[in-house]
Amino acid sequence: MTPSSPALGVPVLQPISNPASPIIQRPRRLRRTETLRRLVRENTLAVEDLIYPLFVMEGEKLEQEIPSMPGCFRYSLDRLLMEIQTVWELGIGAIALFPLIADAQKDNAGTESYNPQGLVPRTIKAIKEVCPEILIITDVALDPYSSEGHDGIVENGKILNDETVAVLVKQALMQAETGADFVAPSDMMDGRIGAIRSALDQAGWINVGILAYAAKYASAYYGPFRDALESAPKFGDKKTYQMDVGNVREALKEVDLDIREGADMVMVKPALAYLDVICQIKTHTHLPVVAYNVSGEYAMVKAAAARGWIDEKKVVLETLTSMKRAGADLILTYFAKDMALQLQADHLEH
Ligand code: PBG
Repeated sequence: MTPSSPALGVPVLQPISNPASPIIQRPRRLRRTETLRRLVRENTLAVEDLIYPLFVMEGEKLEQEIPSMPGCFRYSLDRLLMEIQTVWELGIGAIALFPLIADAQKDNAGTESYNPQGLVPRTIKAIKEVCPEILIITDVALDPYSSEGHDGIVENGKILNDETVAVLVKQALMQAETGADFVAPSDMMDGRIGAIRSALDQAGWINVGILAYAAKYASAYYGPFRDALESAPKFGDKKTYQMDVGNVREALKEVDLDIREGADMVMVKPALAYLDVICQIKTHTHLPVVAYNVSGEYAMVKAAAARGWIDEKKVVLETLTSMKRAGADLILTYFAKDMALQLQADHLEH
């Protein structure tokens, strides 16, 4: 649309003479009171829109706050289960699980990623016992399990694609077998959605969904997450598999491929610096679009709020609303619990 053309469906206004006032349209009329503003609000956040990422670690009675993510913890399983009950009672319907794996269990091929006795499968089973209805989304990628800190198998400094996909398939199958509702490949290898979908179907897991990290950028905003999982790359960066920051048509290509290969939902990551990508993907597909409000976005807000430089609650609401406005149906965010509490309080007020 050119800037001068009228918006579709909006009649061109004929000038009407009004002797009492030169202003016919007064947009401020619709902003007069909070009740009115709520009535005409185009985009709102609901607790149903939120997915809460949670970090799990071995041990008992452990809650380790992540220094670069104040308010976010790595929980041992017993504590994680308590947290799950709390968030479920707040109305959050889905969680995304990320494990902290000991260095001794890491290798180049990410073998631990498909160990059926590993931390993730034990966690899935335990959650399903205490909170059977909450949706569990598990990350499919090698980085938490990789001695190289990469999402794939490394050979001579290069990340191997097809060999990695074979391992991701094993990981996804193991997660489905232990009760994951959605597997979420975050690795950005080529062809992994198709390979995982066909393996799941062959094994009979036709109802296990795939949330594809379709447009995942090689971003500097993942730093705090890599601290949390001690998963930073040991060499180089992730630019040969994650997307170039300057691209948007390529995001549409990735989305097309993932949909053709069987994705049920597509995700954009990070969110805030990529609202245009969310917007374009939304007009491009009928699948639910998910925004990942990543660790660095969380850390920036927390750091500024801790200094008293911004009003945290208002900034969080504004930021998450911007993601909805851009077109996100769902938001994966470390703020999910705070937001759910805020929404509950707002609801009681009205
Ligand atoms: C791993 C993965 C990452 C994140 C989610 N899954 C890190 C990375 O790709 O390096 C980042 C999430 C965040 O920063 O909140 N494949």
